[in-house]
Amino acid sequence: MTTLPASTAPPLLRLAGVSHTYSGQRRRTTVLKDVDHTFERGTFYTVLGPSGSGKTTLLSLASGLDTPTKGTISFNGQDLTELGLGRYRNKHAATVFQQYNLLTYMTALQNVTTAMEITGAKPVTGTRRARALRLLEDIGLDRATATRNVLRLSGGQQQRVAIARALACDVDILFADEPTGNLDEDTAQGIIDTFRDLAHEQGTCVVVVTHSQHLASQSDRVLRLRKGRLTEQVNAR
Ligand SMILES: Nc1ncnc2c1ncn2[C@@H]1O[C@H](COP(=O)(O)OP(=O)(O)OP(=O)(O)O)[C@@H](O)[C@H]1O
Ligand SMILES: [Mg+2]
Repeated sequence: MTTLPASTAPPLLRLAGVSHTYSGQRRRTTVLKDVDHTFERGTFYTVLGPSGSGKTTLLSLASGLDTPTKGTISFNGQDLTELGLGRYRNKHAATVFQQYNLLTYMTALQNVTTAMEITGAKPVTGTRRARALRLLEDIGLDRATATRNVLRLSGGQQQRVAIARALACDVDILFADEPTGNLDEDTAQGIIDTFRDLAHEQGTCVVVVTHSQHLASQSDRVLRLRKGRLTEQVNAR
């Protein structure tokens, strides 16, 4: 990748004039209205907003799963549609889904190694299996749990498999939709620490949707989604 001076480098991710409308049989729902925002490397963002305010919609557009009705989304200055949504999702962005979206016929370990194979993520040392086991262990899932079919894990354990799977892919941007919703306080704190370290030590851009003020208070930038508008909360910390 070419390195430009900070002043001229485009932002890692930019949403410009992004609006999104869902068209049903009878009515259309405009969820996002003219959203403008940039997301930078090495920064941990949280997005707060009431249920139904469009947080998951915002993540699905920013992560290249869907395209906005209006406006553009660019990564390193390149429009996502030009870069290719598949390529963006494969190489640059990983998502922890609100409903986990695990492969239910696989073990926790296989979910993580399969994602690494698909995205081509290679550990600096050791095998993919070893790295996956380490990531799962770091997040509180021992080997016996990691080698069990995911349907035989608790909701909180499944949520952690989804997090480990996203962490394994070594991406530029990590999106997570309510990633601590099913976790006890200590485990949730461990995940928040992991996200913060990922941003501050690895330079990853981390964007987390949450209802938790406690989580938001530990992020670098707090954004609020309300009535389709995205605004930044000043003096978040
Ligand atoms: N595929 C869809 N088709 C039609 N409407 C949709 C679709 N997905 C979401 N919506 C509507 O868009 C609005 C925003 O939904 P979204 O899932 O983005 O909200 P959210 O902020 O993530 O909510 P929650 O906090 O409950 O997860 C809601 O009114 C929802 O009903
Ligand atoms: Mg949601």
